[in-house]
Amino acid sequence: MVIKEMTLDERISLLHGQGFSFGQQRPSSGTESNGGAGLTPAIPRLGIPAIQMADSAYGVTRGAFMGRYSTALTNNLGAASSWDPQAAFEYGQLIGRELRDQGYSMSLGGGVNLPREPRNGRTFEYQGEDPLLAGTLDGNVEKGVQSEHIIGDLKHYAINDQESGRNAVNANISARAMRETDLRAFEIALKISDAGGVMCSYNRVNGDFACENNYLLNDVLKRDFKFQGFVLSDWGGTHSTAKASHNGLDMEQPGETFFGDALKKAVESGEVSQAELDEHVHRILRTIFATGLFDHPVVRQVPDVDGGYAIAEKIAEKSIVLLKDSNHVLPLSASVRSIVLIGGHADKGVITGGGSAQVNPPGGNAVPPPPPAPGERFGRREEWLPDAPLQAFKARFGDSNVSYVSGDDPAAAAAAAKNADAAIVFGYQGESEGMDLKSLDLPDVQNKLIETVAAANPKTIVVLETGSPATMPWIDKVSGVIEAWFPGIRGSEALAKIVAGDVNPTGKLAITFPKSDADLPHPTLVLPPPESEPHRPAPGQNISEFMAQMQKGLPAFQVQYDEGLKVGYKWYDAEKKPVLFPFGFGLSYTTYAYSGLSVKTGDGLTVTFTVKNTGHRAGTEIAQVYTSFPESAGEPPKRLIGWARVELAPGESKPVTITVPQDRYTVYDEPSDSWKLVPGSYNIMAGSSSRDLPLAKSVSLQ
Ligand code: BGC
Repeated sequence: MVIKEMTLDERISLLHGQGFSFGQQRPSSGTESNGGAGLTPAIPRLGIPAIQMADSAYGVTRGAFMGRYSTALTNNLGAASSWDPQAAFEYGQLIGRELRDQGYSMSLGGGVNLPREPRNGRTFEYQGEDPLLAGTLDGNVEKGVQSEHIIGDLKHYAINDQESGRNAVNANISARAMRETDLRAFEIALKISDAGGVMCSYNRVNGDFACENNYLLNDVLKRDFKFQGFVLSDWGGTHSTAKASHNGLDMEQPGETFFGDALKKAVESGEVSQAELDEHVHRILRTIFATGLFDHPVVRQVPDVDGGYAIAEKIAEKSIVLLKDSNHVLPLSASVRSIVLIGGHADKGVITGGGSAQVNPPGGNAVPPPPPAPGERFGRREEWLPDAPLQAFKARFGDSNVSYVSGDDPAAAAAAAKNADAAIVFGYQGESEGMDLKSLDLPDVQNKLIETVAAANPKTIVVLETGSPATMPWIDKVSGVIEAWFPGIRGSEALAKIVAGDVNPTGKLAITFPKSDADLPHPTLVLPPPESEPHRPAPGQNISEFMAQMQKGLPAFQVQYDEGLKVGYKWYDAEKKPVLFPFGFGLSYTTYAYSGLSVKTGDGLTVTFTVKNTGHRAGTEIAQVYTSFPESAGEPPKRLIGWARVELAPGESKPVTITVPQDRYTVYDEPSDSWKLVPGSYNIMAGSSSRDLPLAKSVSLQ
């Protein structure tokens, strides 16, 4: 009914953005920008509201430009260590609420690409390496966003797994590998969230740009996944009018190079049919209705900062992963009177993930960087939240018991460590969109600093603030390691509670930590040739000019994802590579024992076993279930098929039942374009990580 009332111009106006509007309130077609990354204008004549979009992966971005506050949560990969769908929902709900408070109606977040290339500078924005875990958590985040009547989004669809040359790269990958790994994560996330938007990515996939890729958009997303929302291009990721429209793109962002006048002409000439145009419009209008934006118009209000803090702290507590705890060095006992914190700007704050996901630190960057290099734009500069570990540790352990040295002088740091009962060294790795890590090694002289301190004090604990795995050449020399990720605005409080033992750590890795880059499927990053490189404006180049150059299409270069199904632990298992810390791993201050596995087959599996808390503290164990496949399936050695968070008092045992729907252990059959159960013997395994599975039972499935 609404579409029928709309003129051609009004219809077209919903299908493209209004130009770059970051941090500005430029007037456009009667609609003011809210300062976010993009928008579609309101049509007041028909009561259609604007869609005001803001990047919001781990919090609402670019608040500072507009004088607004947003809560910075633990980064996405970090928060995935909770393995907790409810926590993921609350994460998204908070983002949805703060978007609404700030006048936005759509989230640009929901990154769920799998880390085929863990050095990808955006690994911190994604949910880890397993499609079931990543899809479940991301789906719950977006469900949380949409519970606030804000349009959710899944991105970057698809196989946008490295930033280097992202606007040119052609990802070569088999249909089966895509369907069972990267696309499976999107499929699961979509099913849970019914997200209103899917952002197609910059790269090419098997020859076609993702935003004009018939297979990805029409065959898989719209036909097989039954996606009812709209596909919007990543910013500048549209490359054609008729081809993109036919192949499933619904909305160009942020401008109107192809979906403005050019689309109007294509409709007038019949190159794009009226029905096809109306389908794009319908998907957008339908999403506005379905999300509830008509019924619950966005009204700006002051955000609940304390409420946000409380959620941020709870998420951080569930995200932090205890990786090493020799001789129970942690939690620090009451006999530890003096603690020295070393390095990592622990006197100032905690680092955040950069690029379009950057949440502005309230009150400004706690560690101001040197002035930008010529031509440098957003994204390259580390931003630190003003939540200093030093302050949090002083508050918890007593003002005079905690000191700080910068670590700039390793000898001075070692001397301070020698004089303290315990030394905590903070290591970090800055990460951002628009770059990839050169290596998973901690940059600069951090490894050297850690070794020097460890040699001076046997009670040396390393706290890492990284958004992806890190290598640890010093692992045998330190007593404790805690992965705190980019822990967010209350990360230091959560960390102090874990170090003190007020909170028993529960987090488990959603990504494998390899021993070195050499063990990755692609030991060296595939770098673009210079002509395929530019993904940011040259010094002095105007952004629209740059965008036009990018949209013409930079020359392709090839990445072969021939590891296929073997992403993450599936790779290390298949290649029999030892790892530093496996997928699903994380220690607790208590211990657990597994017993009594039984598996009932039928419509899906019912897997039952018992977990006992064999230690002296209450804890929550994340119990995991994997399966192997019959040889003829051609699958990697194991696949995660379920998990449960089990809360246990000291000494307590609980039966755990995990129901596993059949679609968790079927395989994609390319010739018939369908999912099949491969008949034969399956080994069902249960335990505490992908490499610690004490229970196993073979079942025959037909
Ligand atoms: C990023 C997207 C983001 C968009 C708008 C792009 O460069 O890849 O993730 O949503 O910019 O800021």
